[in-house]
Amino acid sequence: MNRLRLLTALLLLSACAACASKETSPIVIPRPASVQELPGHFTIREPLAFAIEAPDSVAGPLSALLRGGAILCVEEAAGSGDVALRFRLDDAPELPASEEGYRLAVRPEGIEIASRGAAGLFYGWQTLLQLHAYYGGRIPAREIVDEPRFAWRGLHLDVSRHFFDKEFVCKQLRMMASLKLNRLHLHLTDGAGWRIEIDRFPLLTEVAAWRVGATWKEWWMGDRSYCRRDDPRAAGGYYTKEEIREIVACADSLHITVVPEIEFPGHSEEVLAVFPELGCPGRPDGCGELCLGNEASFRFLERVLTEVLELFPSAYIHVGGDEASTAAWASCPRCRARMAREGLKSPEELQNWAMRRVGRFLEAQGRTMVGWDEILDGGDIPARTVVMSWRGEEGGRKAAAAGHDVVMTPGGYCYFDGYQDNPMTEPQAFSGYLPLWKVYGYDPAPADMPGREHVLGVQANLWTEYIPTPEQAEYMYYPRAFALAEVAWSPVEGRDYDEFRQRALWRTARAREAGYNAFDLAAEQGERPESREPAEHLAVGCPVAYGTPWHRSYPAGGAEALTDGLRGSWSYATRWQGFLGGAVEVTVDLGAVKPIREVTADFIQWYSAWIWLPARVEIAVSDDGADFRQLATVENDYPVEEHRPVYRSFGWTGEDRARFVRYRALSNGRSGGWLFTDEIVVR
Ligand code: ACM
Repeated sequence: MNRLRLLTALLLLSACAACASKETSPIVIPRPASVQELPGHFTIREPLAFAIEAPDSVAGPLSALLRGGAILCVEEAAGSGDVALRFRLDDAPELPASEEGYRLAVRPEGIEIASRGAAGLFYGWQTLLQLHAYYGGRIPAREIVDEPRFAWRGLHLDVSRHFFDKEFVCKQLRMMASLKLNRLHLHLTDGAGWRIEIDRFPLLTEVAAWRVGATWKEWWMGDRSYCRRDDPRAAGGYYTKEEIREIVACADSLHITVVPEIEFPGHSEEVLAVFPELGCPGRPDGCGELCLGNEASFRFLERVLTEVLELFPSAYIHVGGDEASTAAWASCPRCRARMAREGLKSPEELQNWAMRRVGRFLEAQGRTMVGWDEILDGGDIPARTVVMSWRGEEGGRKAAAAGHDVVMTPGGYCYFDGYQDNPMTEPQAFSGYLPLWKVYGYDPAPADMPGREHVLGVQANLWTEYIPTPEQAEYMYYPRAFALAEVAWSPVEGRDYDEFRQRALWRTARAREAGYNAFDLAAEQGERPESREPAEHLAVGCPVAYGTPWHRSYPAGGAEALTDGLRGSWSYATRWQGFLGGAVEVTVDLGAVKPIREVTADFIQWYSAWIWLPARVEIAVSDDGADFRQLATVENDYPVEEHRPVYRSFGWTGEDRARFVRYRALSNGRSGGWLFTDEIVVR
């Protein structure tokens, strides 16, 4: 074979390999429940002639949506013989039971999308658009039968810490719809700014929506003050009622429900800034809780909610309930009087009483209350309340077992404000390390979970303390929202991260082309290099005597953690041992006097989690465990005010012999004074 023919043959082979992988790859995200390949192809000729067999109430909006789309050019078919794409609302028994389910049949002679519901027809269309984007005008014939695993497939957006305008929200709604996500949870109020027009209380948008400090960080590190909207320093914003109506209408056309959240009774500093009388008398500085002994607090909330309910048709209304400090209530005469009258034994029971009262108010309006999992503390909650489990999965498990509907949104899998790659090179984020694989691996309702039928679904939250721009918000959403969509929609059987990642790479590239500032998955660095393989060194397996105890919240592997060869992840919660109380002092026994040339340990500084590098490290050795000789003292020169996470080694190198190695790290004494280390390495 001459070289030219060899080259041609090789090129043909690789082209075939490419088309073979294209043929078999169900490129759609979220992965459909079932895909059956059929012989042949359908060739799209634009404009694609469509027909809708459904009552006007379904056909009208669908037709408008199809004709308004920019991706694939369509037109209503002139006669029945011309139809290339048929939508059919149908209740045939072979169709998926869910109104969101659909059957998409692509055959050489035409395409049909059938469903029991308008949402199912819409989702079938979304799948077809993805096939078209991947295959172009020649779509391989196949039958896809698909329906969601969960009814609640949510994304959350905190518009208080930074405000994101209507256009941004609608842009994300379009991406959500393409991913078959169907709930947008808007966190509309918080200490950093009130974000919705309420006619009854104009001060909320004249003042409480505007702060001094363009970014949350500036405001938080400054005096946390508010100003009038016409103040030259004013930063913030809010949605007018008209804008809210537009967002809700846009969402509705995409089969998405917008779930509003009005925080109560905590996270309300901005409300107290304009209505100080709603706080407890004599409350401490910075207190953000409304007074629960004061009827005016409930009147305020009910009046706000009355206007909110007029704007949002959602059956679910979120009223927060998270992270409320009980300090002011415990000493407030009005709250204490309320507790005595209602027979409440603690401030926690007082909050529970307040949330139940709000729940009854919403129920009387035909709506269902949603709250963060703190609403389970301090007593029972109304049966219909939906619990959002964010402090891990415990709250959700407890609520589901007690018969409450729950939405799982645990921080370890669903908080998209954490880093998705190397925290030292990524833009500053909040805390935690949440790479794509971890989101993908989450199961909100595992088979052994009691009450798992009460898991309505799953949601990812985007708190925006460190997300000042729309570009940054998109960067944090995507591609992790692709993994969330698959967790929320696709069957748990058949999950395969490597296969998903290929689809996510493709989809990320398309999202970036379409103007979404997605994180570049193709350039992902991955997990901390030190943590990928067990380390080998002299101290592995040697006993460690602790002069200072590790903290029970961060034990890593307990007494063996610092000599198990297993290094910490980018996540400080994984394989890092945490110490609180000013110092780490540990002594490793090597078992016999040995030559040594290196003693080192890594530490983390993670400002938002109050974890600091040590101020000083002292390394000493001994032959008998009694008399120690100092080998080195290392001072830290890394700035304490640096907010970006950093991982640093503190150690000694030289020539010596010893059996016992003592490693002391002294904290800088800053708030909490946490120290985190993963291994005492001796070579
Ligand atoms: C929360 O993250 N405070 C719900």
